[in-house]
Amino acid sequence: MIKFDCRNADKAVIGDENGLDLAAEFDIWGEKVRNIIVDLNKSKDIPGSGLQWMNLGYSQETAWYVKEYAALVKNRFENLLILGIGGSALGGMAVCHALLRPYWNYLSKEERNGYPRIFFLDNVDPDSTVSLLSHLDLKKTLVNVITKSGDTTEIMAQYMIIKNMLEKELGDDYRKNIVATTDMRSGILRQISEQEGYKTFVVPDDVGGRYSVFSAVGLLPFALTGIDIDEVSNGIKDMDLALKNTDIRQNIAAQNALIHHLLDTKKGKHISVMMPYSSRLKYISDWYTQLWAESLGKQYNLEGNIVFNGQTPLKALGATDQHSVLQLFNEGPNDKIINFIRVKEFDNTLEIPKIFEYTGIGYLGGKSINQLIDAEADSTKVTLTDNKRPNVTITIDKIDAYNIGQLLYMFEVQTAISASLYNINGFNQPGVEQSKNYVYALMGRAGYEDSAQNLHSKLSLV
Ligand code: PA5
Repeated sequence: MIKFDCRNADKAVIGDENGLDLAAEFDIWGEKVRNIIVDLNKSKDIPGSGLQWMNLGYSQETAWYVKEYAALVKNRFENLLILGIGGSALGGMAVCHALLRPYWNYLSKEERNGYPRIFFLDNVDPDSTVSLLSHLDLKKTLVNVITKSGDTTEIMAQYMIIKNMLEKELGDDYRKNIVATTDMRSGILRQISEQEGYKTFVVPDDVGGRYSVFSAVGLLPFALTGIDIDEVSNGIKDMDLALKNTDIRQNIAAQNALIHHLLDTKKGKHISVMMPYSSRLKYISDWYTQLWAESLGKQYNLEGNIVFNGQTPLKALGATDQHSVLQLFNEGPNDKIINFIRVKEFDNTLEIPKIFEYTGIGYLGGKSINQLIDAEADSTKVTLTDNKRPNVTITIDKIDAYNIGQLLYMFEVQTAISASLYNINGFNQPGVEQSKNYVYALMGRAGYEDSAQNLHSKLSLV
């Protein structure tokens, strides 16, 4: 199981001003946290609770359909192109980047075991879109359009462009190159998929975009690229079992949620840094950033009072960012809690040759890059602790499907517990919806005429 070390958030280590009396806080908050955990597990099947994601690890049906389709199309496509944004893309990107062999798209078909290259188009930048589309042979590309609402502008615009290109190249056969992941009943993509006869997968009810990575949103790209989705589910289920423990002393998601909450509200740590020491885990920070920001950044609490809640997530990568933001972390405002993610055993060991022994770099010879990245992580942890900056360390044994399932699920539960601690709704995103609606208006969608007029007059002033 994943290990969690929170000693460097304790006042015994970093002092009273910046640290917490963890033992005392666990006592004080134990009952409240117990109730939150009981409540989450009790409410997860209630429609409208937004908690269906807690059941995804157990959904054998989805896994079965996804595997069946993946087996059917195996070897048929050279590329898999994902059209998605926010919650429809970030989880897939995080997991594929972690679990596929690094530089996957540069590997030969044999090295990829016949599985396709994978590309995520998660923006509407004209230059990168044109460049990617000119590089891909669309005839050999499977396009997975992912949108829960079925009408997000960025995705639908990309989809419309690509559908036309596919149709030109393939004639009526183009439909076989499109698979849609969307709501079961509603939304424009559902309607189009039925008209056009696309293969479809479902984003279940009560699963918000940022919690959807273990639905077909993520499972389909994983299975299509050969990731063992049963092992991902095993990781989720084992973590779910562990996190059902209502004793905060035994529940790492609850501990990290409470530590973040108290450091934010009592000690002025308004920034949560996610810093994995592994390039393969780089996009876990992007995924976490969305999860933490969209879930906890809320204007109102559950009673409708204005609270302007939220702790700002910040991504960093070890060891790279030791030569960048670490200066600020160490000496700038003491307003952060740093989450390290460490990997006990990398897949590879790379030795540094014993050369230049007569020079100042001779000491590196005979050591490994593995030792070096560990030393980097240790040194950062110690310097931050010396500077009284609270930090916690999450350690996974190795980067594999089982551990990644555990890790992401743990952060999801931590976020849900945090939302309850802050007394806010962790499962809506009105701030995101507002911007989506403004884009509809500016792009001329029917029904948004008044909003468009209002926006144009505002835009003429700025
Ligand atoms: O987490 C969220 O709700 C958002 O980031 C959405 O996932 C994102 O806006 C895309 O929405 P949709 O899947 O409806 O196209």
